[in-house]
Amino acid sequence: MTTADRTRVAIVGAGPAGLLLSHLLAASGIESIVVDRRSREEIENTIRAGILEQGTVDLLVESGASTRVLEDGNRHDGIELRFAGEGHRIDFPSLTGRSVWLYPQHEVLRDLVAARLAAGQDLRLGITVERVEDAETTRPRVIGTDADGHPFEIEADVVVGADGSRSAVRSAVTGGIRSDLFREYPFAWFGILCDAPPSADELIYSNSPDGFALISQRSATVQRMYFQCDPDTDPDSLSDAQIWAELQARVPGTTLHEGHIFQRDVLRFRSFVAHQLRRGRVALIGDAAHTVPPTGAKGMNLAVADVVLLDRALGALLVENDERPFDAFAETALRRIWKAQHFSWWMTSMLHVAPDASQFDRERQLGELRSVVESEAGRSYLAEAYTGWPFETRLP
Ligand code: DHB
Repeated sequence: MTTADRTRVAIVGAGPAGLLLSHLLAASGIESIVVDRRSREEIENTIRAGILEQGTVDLLVESGASTRVLEDGNRHDGIELRFAGEGHRIDFPSLTGRSVWLYPQHEVLRDLVAARLAAGQDLRLGITVERVEDAETTRPRVIGTDADGHPFEIEADVVVGADGSRSAVRSAVTGGIRSDLFREYPFAWFGILCDAPPSADELIYSNSPDGFALISQRSATVQRMYFQCDPDTDPDSLSDAQIWAELQARVPGTTLHEGHIFQRDVLRFRSFVAHQLRRGRVALIGDAAHTVPPTGAKGMNLAVADVVLLDRALGALLVENDERPFDAFAETALRRIWKAQHFSWWMTSMLHVAPDASQFDRERQLGELRSVVESEAGRSYLAEAYTGWPFETRLP
């Protein structure tokens, strides 16, 4: 027997995008069902980036989704770009009036899950979504099997695919046509989490002859660091001593505080934009719609910007019966998506050393870095993009 439910918005994916959307919709009185394949524990322990744009933080706080971000998060007023043996600080407030916050994604998820459960959100975990049907009607349906293996259907006014880069919803929007726009990068990041005090006050993005390194943080006692590696690197192939030697060589001028490495992973770069973000009453947001390379930490922030737009569009559609903002959703979202795609590409290519880089390429890259740090216009461009462009407020 198939269980059939009905809701206004069926959201596939309980990551930051799906949970935040359900939270904002509820504030406008729009009920939703959120489903996810994973357990609460898996969702809350997803290790991802740690930097929130100013606009993301303001939204989390103002919407009541998280107050902890202000207590447990750390405001960062700048980053350091390091190259050719020198560090150059980019000061965000003086250039843009904004800052960023170091508050890891899994903390955002803990806050969102707690807020949604406290509000009585219909959140169904352990659910496998197989497909979405009837996208082009006013009654699209999510079809799959529940945690006990029983078939279910959810009929909704709108279905949202917020189910990550391996989205089960995406083919209902793109028609399964593989004409998505994508770019491959010839490197990955070797990431570690370790027990150690911070090695610097702010994040260090370092371009060194040995390749890129990023010295990030998690807390006073746990640090996150990355270095550029070959995408086929096996995370277990390096000893702790080799990892520290790689990291240390890439941030000349700083002595890293070493400590017990308790997690290591190789993050492959994925970069794509779906060729369509909406079909009929089905829309894609977050990693289901686009992924960016990690340099610059745009991934989750871009998902939040999608949510802001879609929340407004769904409010207009479902409360005021005005279809125009929903019709304009994809075009409006794509403007920011491509700006973020460009910024992530730019930070990546400016800071990493391509495996086949010539001496010319290296010297040009240093020239590029100098033209950024030595000019207020260059520093401002970086600071504006890093702290996040204002959310789009114009609606048709
Ligand atoms: C982190 C990740 C990023 O991609 C970045 O640009 C900055 C910080 C992080 O995991 O801390």
